[in-house]
Amino acid sequence: MERIDETRLPNHIAIIMDGNGRWARKNALRRLAGHRKGADSVRNVVRSCRRLGIKFLTLYAFSVENWQRPEAEVSALMSLLEDYLRSELQEMNDKDIRLMTIGDVDRFPGKTRKVLLNTVEKTSKNSGMILTLALSYGGRDEIVESVKKVVRDIKEGRIKESDITRENFSNYLYTSDIPDPDLLIRTSGEYRVSNFLLWQLAYAELYFTDILWPDFSEESLFDAVADYQKRERRFGLISDQLSVD
Ligand code: IPE
Ligand code: IPE
Ligand code: MG
Repeated sequence: MERIDETRLPNHIAIIMDGNGRWARKNALRRLAGHRKGADSVRNVVRSCRRLGIKFLTLYAFSVENWQRPEAEVSALMSLLEDYLRSELQEMNDKDIRLMTIGDVDRFPGKTRKVLLNTVEKTSKNSGMILTLALSYGGRDEIVESVKKVVRDIKEGRIKESDITRENFSNYLYTSDIPDPDLLIRTSGEYRVSNFLLWQLAYAELYFTDILWPDFSEESLFDAVADYQKRERRFGLISDQLSVD
């Protein structure tokens, strides 16, 4: 951890956890075994981020597109999510971690939704780290939903068209309570965003690694954070402007 400057941590890390299936194939196992091992990586990365002092961690766990996977895989992922939430509740409370979700969780089976809402509620007073699971999440759906809410607010006279700014548009997104990610990590050697946080990633630093999600360790996380700390975030300015407060 000595290679990480703890005064310059990313406030918000978002992760596209990819490669469970390929990990399973590589180890001559079924895809479900890859997802199980992936859930262990989730446990580890949540712990590591909390220990490091990360304030916001957002994990892409299930996309709207993932509903189109074979039914057996989808239902195995639902059970795995339920098991994960049940087994982690105690630790989340011990470590002051608050669970939130973004996405269309109404599409989830009643049983899964119940465990999910229960965990969200039972951790709602925690504030040490906000862990957000993106579930049945799609970035374009999120933007379309937000536009609909804006239209409704205009129609019902709560706001005028001229009131809408890029700052307050963010309040209509699922992530209204969460700052934009500073660092986006994607595992498994894919170089795409796959419909994740399209609006919010505008100025995130992107970090890609070939490591498959089930092999992603605390060391891998530290590598990503150390890499992030070498970057200069200019936000469209020139270097000289950045040192001036
Ligand atoms: C990521 O691993 C987990 C989910 C998308 C739910 P994948 O299942 O996408 O693994 P690969 O991409 O097939 O290796
Ligand atoms: C992105 O992974 C979604 C999650 C990690 C939940 P996918 O495996 O679904 O993405 P694509 O299909 O390779 O773009
Ligand atoms: Mg994948």
